[in-house]
Amino acid sequence: MPTITLIPGDGIGPEITDAVVEILDAADAGLQYDEQIAGLNAFRQAGELIPPELLESIKTHKVGLKGPLTTPVGQGFKSINVQLRQIFDLYQNVRPLRSVPGIKSRFEEVDLVLFRENTEGMYVGFEIYDARNEIADAIARISKKGSERIIRSAFEYAKANNRKKVTIAHKANILKQSSGMFLRVGLEVAKNYPEIQVEDRIIDNMCMQMVMYPERYDIVVTTNLFGDILSDLGAGLVGGLGLVPGGNIGDDIAIFEAVHGSAPDIAGQGIANPSALLQSAIMMLRHLSITEPANRIEKALFKTLSHPSEPTKDLGGTSTTEQFAEFVVKNLE
Ligand code: NAI
Ligand code: MG
Repeated sequence: MPTITLIPGDGIGPEITDAVVEILDAADAGLQYDEQIAGLNAFRQAGELIPPELLESIKTHKVGLKGPLTTPVGQGFKSINVQLRQIFDLYQNVRPLRSVPGIKSRFEEVDLVLFRENTEGMYVGFEIYDARNEIADAIARISKKGSERIIRSAFEYAKANNRKKVTIAHKANILKQSSGMFLRVGLEVAKNYPEIQVEDRIIDNMCMQMVMYPERYDIVVTTNLFGDILSDLGAGLVGGLGLVPGGNIGDDIAIFEAVHGSAPDIAGQGIANPSALLQSAIMMLRHLSITEPANRIEKALFKTLSHPSEPTKDLGGTSTTEQFAEFVVKNLE
């Protein structure tokens, strides 16, 4: 029986994690959980945002399912999410943006997968503040190796999943060295995949294109900050943050989590939508080759989401988090 590291996290994290574990168990996913604290919870209980036990657990089990973590705002706190991705070199942030049957949103035929570089770019934390002149500089790091491996992952995914096109999103017209390298490396990597179409878009145009014609895009690969922004934009196309899952994937270790954060505005009310974390768990099961339960859960989730009242409030339904989980369990075949 595989064991995974389970991190309920902060805010709505514990509520949606309970719901997801209930569904995984009801579907006989056959998982054992090594539950670990991180983030604000861990800081309050153990004085550390990332306890050593958590790192040890992830190193041992190699697969994690993570709720959102709150990074305290202010000096001296580096985002825990960013740190985890860097510590374990989880360089791929894979985020499928897919219309869900039955969910009313602006578009019905969105089916694109976003590949966001997850370890460098604007998130390396190189910020310098010159207090005397009140000037703050932020430096983005783009490396050839870092660009190559994320772009290659996007093409490999396209090949394995019978996808037709990869779009490289960048700002090479202005950021000639950094974004320029990402684009150049991308076009070079593309030569190894003659069967897959490649194109590039400047990021601002990419945003407009994705809002107007999302059905034209298949795989989009981009640097860290652009990918972060495109993720939430993409979530907006398919029904909101309550739905969109993701995986942080390295060569050896993977941590699956929703795109959304800890939603402090609704935490503790029992109304959060667990679908995004559940879809992340489905991605995790497939990563572990636990295919049959993954397919059954997905079917039950889509059935629940297409019902007029069974979804949670953010999607126009009436269920609480707990009731939603019960409906998914009831809809399991
Ligand atoms: P957020 O994603 O937590 O919330 C944005 C909006 O979406 C809120 O109105 C929230 O109620 C709603 N929402 C999010 N998830 C939902 C769900 N499952 N069901 C129903 N409604 C949902 O973003 P925000 O407010 O900017 O960030 C809050 C905290 O989360 C911050 O501390 C931030 O650092 C952290 N965060 C953590 C992430 C992670 O752990 N990977 C990712 C993004 C933010
Ligand atoms: Mg984000």
